[in-house]
Amino acid sequence: MSRSAHPAGPRHADVLPEGHWTAPATDLNALDEKVWSRTVTRDADGALTVGGIEVARLAEEFGTPAYILDESDFRARCRAWADAFGADADVFYAGKAFLSRAVVRWLTEEGLNLDVCSGGELATALDAGMPVERIAFHGNNKTVAEIERAVSVGVGRIVLDSFQEIVRVAHIAQSLGKRQRVQIRVTVGVEAHTHEFIATAHEDQKFGIALAGGQAAEAVRRALTLDGLELVGIHSHIGSQIFDMAGFEVSARRVVQLLAEIRDEHGVELPEIDLGGGLGIAYTSEDDPREPHEIAKALGDIVTRECESAGLATPRISVEPGRAIVGPTAFTLYEVGTIKPLEGLRTYVSVDGGMSDNIRTALYDAEYSVSLVSRTSDAEPMLVRVVGKHCESGDIVVKDAFLPADLAPGDLIAVPATGAYCRSMASNYNHALRPPVVAVRDGRARVIVRRETEEDLLRLDVG
Ligand code: LLP
Repeated sequence: MSRSAHPAGPRHADVLPEGHWTAPATDLNALDEKVWSRTVTRDADGALTVGGIEVARLAEEFGTPAYILDESDFRARCRAWADAFGADADVFYAGKAFLSRAVVRWLTEEGLNLDVCSGGELATALDAGMPVERIAFHGNNKTVAEIERAVSVGVGRIVLDSFQEIVRVAHIAQSLGKRQRVQIRVTVGVEAHTHEFIATAHEDQKFGIALAGGQAAEAVRRALTLDGLELVGIHSHIGSQIFDMAGFEVSARRVVQLLAEIRDEHGVELPEIDLGGGLGIAYTSEDDPREPHEIAKALGDIVTRECESAGLATPRISVEPGRAIVGPTAFTLYEVGTIKPLEGLRTYVSVDGGMSDNIRTALYDAEYSVSLVSRTSDAEPMLVRVVGKHCESGDIVVKDAFLPADLAPGDLIAVPATGAYCRSMASNYNHALRPPVVAVRDGRARVIVRRETEEDLLRLDVG
């Protein structure tokens, strides 16, 4: 994803430009339910609670920074996706957004499938007992060892990403005496980001095999001749943080067109299509994500219509939401350390984490919201930039937001919608210790990924 194409939009100047969406909310204490997980509320004293537990208690017991994950919200979102798509379709949670053994167990219990894209994600899934036939294995350069493991344990599907991989997987499957179910990932010529919808420059990327120039058709031709492979479908993933269904519409139309060509050339109707993930969530009050049932209906209608007009039976549809499931279910809890007002500009609020627990702001110019959560305040709003403790001026967590002017060191603030691509992209930069993930549910909190310790760091450093 290129910097300039990312939904977060271009970097702007140091002061808030006129007309920028960020304006002081009429009530800084209000919690917009679009960006907070579902059990978040304020108690009678004004402190934020989640799953019935007050944040101060969480901070005391688990320390800060910490990712606080609302388990019942996660499970509810899984069920909403599964119900929306129904028995004739499959929902694969994209583990890259955030994966842990507890998450795998929740997915298993809630009836979802799992998309993994590395040996590490596969190992986590297997260790936590995800039924192997419910696992899809992705990646543009899977190693031979990864493919061997995936094939030998019997994953439900491998998504082939290149011409080399078609032969590689076929050979490995054959030498293990297996026939592997596979899909071919095609690039349909659509790159969609939020409101943008760019139909050019699409082949210029590392993923998949282009539909253009008959390449995907050639890949299908080859896959169909190889004994080690059972080609079951075509896969397409068009981008990230997408709100507009138009990109999916074009993608589905082009994939169905390919299915029709395959039928005409080979006399086979492939039974599956996967339309990938990429559905957007609300990071700020400005974002308006769609509900799973709207997405399911839109995708189902498009595929049915296109198949009818091509004279094909409707294939089994699958989707791979990651962010849309886990993103809204967690927030990052920080303690304010220092406050530096810059007259006429903004106030820098430094927290005890930063780019090591949320790289998305630095990497994509992503927008986030932030609230004072240990108490309410009637003070005037002040324009803040929430920054971390790393040795880098680009170490920004929330670029522009308003917090009450009486904010003080020791206050707890929280950044919502950090469930996706924050812990999973966390780093040890400056030898930071990666924060824990604490799951809360019905008044109980438990660590599902513990905080790193100096011992963990030193264990890898063998001297
Ligand atoms: N399926 C495939 C094949 C993917 O490549 C991805 C994401 C997904 C599903 C899940 O997409 P989601 O529904 O979570 O948007 N680090 C970036 C996002 C990278 C996404 C890569 N692929 C970010 O923080 O925005």
